[in-house]
Amino acid sequence: MTLYQTPLPFLHPLLQALWDRISTVFQAPSVVHGADHVYRVAAVADRIAIVEGANRLIVGAAALLHDICRNDSDLVGCHALAAAEKARVLLAELAFAQDQIECVVCAIEAHRFSSGPEAPSLEAQVLQDADRLDAIGAIGMLRAFAFGDELTHSAYHPSDPFHRTERPLDDMRYAIDHFYRKLLQIIDTLHTVEGRRIARRRQEFMEAYLDALEHDLADAQLADTQVADTQVADVRELVGLGG
Ligand code: ADP
Ligand code: NI
Repeated sequence: MTLYQTPLPFLHPLLQALWDRISTVFQAPSVVHGADHVYRVAAVADRIAIVEGANRLIVGAAALLHDICRNDSDLVGCHALAAAEKARVLLAELAFAQDQIECVVCAIEAHRFSSGPEAPSLEAQVLQDADRLDAIGAIGMLRAFAFGDELTHSAYHPSDPFHRTERPLDDMRYAIDHFYRKLLQIIDTLHTVEGRRIARRRQEFMEAYLDALEHDLADAQLADTQVADTQVADVRELVGLGG
């Protein structure tokens, strides 16, 4: 059984039927928007919905469908609006009530980080939070590093990797710029208490990662410039060359 066929045991049976119907859309491998992303968003959204008292059926349907048009090669326009339209059709076929369909549609329309409207309902807020949580922490970093194109991206800005000057950020060119343009700010955009609680550990991990990266780059800097005499002597001693 592949991941895209995996049952979602935490979800309502109607949602399992929906996933069975749509999961093949996500069978192609994709680090950024694959079946595993949808699975995590649905699972985390469900967990937040329980804590916050949101409607789990609406949240679950919106989570499963929110990126259904994301990998369409012939998509023109906004993937969230296209997914909302597709949701209307699919949910009607599965006999969802009209008012439920409208709630799912409005959550999907509002989910986009880059250009979505304000989240108009608790269910829309829960979906936004779950989708944004998947962009931060260890999993978010994995996705961000997979996003860039080997031919167009560098790892970090050569003279200012940690954005300590006023230069404009360019995350279409430098992978680490994406932290400063988006990832480190996500925690402040979350709506729910449970979402922010989950985000805190992920935020700490991203900050610790940037610290570690700074140390690694300092190692390279040291080799590049002058190694202090005492350090040279220490190393010679260590490898048995004496003083
Ligand atoms: P949305 O569909 O909400 O607009 P995005 O396409 O902005 O979402 O982001 C989807 C995923 O891709 C996220 O994990 C995000 O961090 C990552 N991503 C988007 N743009 C970049 C970028 N320029 N560099 C690295 N990762 C990116
Ligand atoms: Ni998503």
